[in-house]
Amino acid sequence: MKPNAGMVTLALSKGRIFDETLPLLQAAGIKVLEDPEKSRKLILTTSRPEVRVIIVRATDVPTYVQYGGADLGVTGLDTLIEHGAAAGGGLYQPLDLQIARCRVSVAVRVDFDYASAVRQGSRLKVATKYVNIARDFFAAKGVHVDLIKLYGSMELAPLTGLADAIVDLVSTGNTLKANQLVEVERIMDISSRLVVNQAALKLKRDAIRPLIDSFAAAVGKLQPA
Ligand code: PRP
Repeated sequence: MKPNAGMVTLALSKGRIFDETLPLLQAAGIKVLEDPEKSRKLILTTSRPEVRVIIVRATDVPTYVQYGGADLGVTGLDTLIEHGAAAGGGLYQPLDLQIARCRVSVAVRVDFDYASAVRQGSRLKVATKYVNIARDFFAAKGVHVDLIKLYGSMELAPLTGLADAIVDLVSTGNTLKANQLVEVERIMDISSRLVVNQAALKLKRDAIRPLIDSFAAAVGKLQPA
């Protein structure tokens, strides 16, 4: 028997996604009993004995759900798109949870003339964690780019001469401002999605379907359009 049989396992990442999923869980009558910021535990119990939360890295949420290590997960659209390019099926995406909203944008140093670089057809060096999103975006614009894959602190790339531009998440814009960078293109709006393992949805339908329904109701209530 699989170690999670009879259990519903929800994969979350620490930080904004965890914090903003809590009210949705609460609306579904589920209280997480441990705080991942205080405990080193990676499996958290909830007020419902048959529901548990696992804490994984944001980029690993789609992987856990796709391969059945978790039945459900909450993941940003950015992560989902980057994962999707490498993945097959198995992930059902029933719901935009409308949390952890931000955008993926292109940013450059304040003294870099992005518009004329694009106009002149210059080849741009672009550093990003979001290589698939960036590749598709610049290909559609007809801009030639050399993509440099980074795993964090993207803002440093234009400041150190590693790249001309970055493609990164922007929320308040404070990080860009603090590093003398400016947003020059908005690529897409991002929010977090509920993802569900398709096999689990069939096998554990009685447990999972009501959860999806209460998330859907909570999204409607908590975030009126
Ligand atoms: C994201 C992003 C920026 C920052 C933008 O990083 O990479 O650094 O948030 O937010 P702001 O516009 O409100 O300043 P995050 O904190 O998610 O961590 P990361 O570096 O691991 O991506």
